[in-house]
Amino acid sequence: MSGHGGSTGQRPQPSDADLARLSREELVRLGSALDGVTIAHREDPFPVPGTRAEKRAERKVALWFIIAALAGLGFLAAYLFWPYEYAPPGSPGDRHLLYQLYTPIIGVLLGSSVFAVGGGTIAYARNLLPHETAVQERHIGGSSEVDRVTTSAILADSGAGSGIGRRSLIKRSAGFGAAVLGAGLGLFALGGLIRNPWKGGAHAALWVTPWASDNGEPVFLRYDAEQLTLARPEDLAAGSIATVFPYKRSWSAQEAHDAMYASNSPVMLIRLLPEQAVRVVQRRGQVDFHYGDFYAYSKICTHLGCPASLYEAQDARLLCPCHQSQFDMLEYAKPIFGPATRALPQLHIAVNDEGYFYAKGDFIEPVGPAFWERRS
Ligand code: FES
Repeated sequence: MSGHGGSTGQRPQPSDADLARLSREELVRLGSALDGVTIAHREDPFPVPGTRAEKRAERKVALWFIIAALAGLGFLAAYLFWPYEYAPPGSPGDRHLLYQLYTPIIGVLLGSSVFAVGGGTIAYARNLLPHETAVQERHIGGSSEVDRVTTSAILADSGAGSGIGRRSLIKRSAGFGAAVLGAGLGLFALGGLIRNPWKGGAHAALWVTPWASDNGEPVFLRYDAEQLTLARPEDLAAGSIATVFPYKRSWSAQEAHDAMYASNSPVMLIRLLPEQAVRVVQRRGQVDFHYGDFYAYSKICTHLGCPASLYEAQDARLLCPCHQSQFDMLEYAKPIFGPATRALPQLHIAVNDEGYFYAKGDFIEPVGPAFWERRS
């Protein structure tokens, strides 16, 4: 079909009876003309169905979708079964290497699956769809009934012209690839919800941190250093801050490592300036939680859990870089600006006979962002 179409207002409109009589191809031609479309060139790459060339083109497209499916299956398998948990360097069975490979592996597999679905779609359009060049003039206003009917015919004709109905290999491989990719994306979205945060009851991870000590063994404050270094009062100058982690002497190297990498472990040990220390307002029930000028608070922001540790020593304010919440360290780390609404939990600290800081117990409230069951 060729020739310029005019706007619907410039041409006689066919009656309903005329429309009912026209074949799909005639409706396509009519619709194109009414819509001001000129089809400059149209060529079916395979006018005779079922040739070897067509089958070859089909296999090429199907290969993309099969790659998408295989990569999607690989992603699902890696996401579900890969040993993703942290293992320190030197762990038996190359666990550390496997841990390091987890994120790259699932990223590459998911990316390959999405890429292959895109590759298959492009290959289909390039190799199997009719090659057509059309020019359309724009017109103003809504569509008339005749436009709507003919547009439906054009869409149906596009579907028939694409040949997807008779290309079962491509239909099956594309369906397989898309289904696996969809399942992978769905699992990815739901994966985080599958674990039960309440497992363990009163000892569930949301209530208890590695600062807890069931057997009365002291939990020391340690720095993140190659060599185990326990925190002592003389380490910090007035107005300075250090991030510390829990450490028990009975822990194995693995347990110590796990405690250091637990998301609810990091604590800020702050030494206030002497002139600030005399102005401190204590929180009810926590008046003896500090040791002299030293205060220890969870580093996990109570808004959305970022590490909050930008400390302005002169104002004794702590800033969370994520959404700019500010906490007043002279008033039990209560929020004074930004979206956080709760004070940072305070750790009860003391110094033992050897001169090392230790925690006199776990936090008395949950660390980090709010959740429904949280009571404070
Ligand atoms: S996470 Fe700290 S302000 Fe949002």
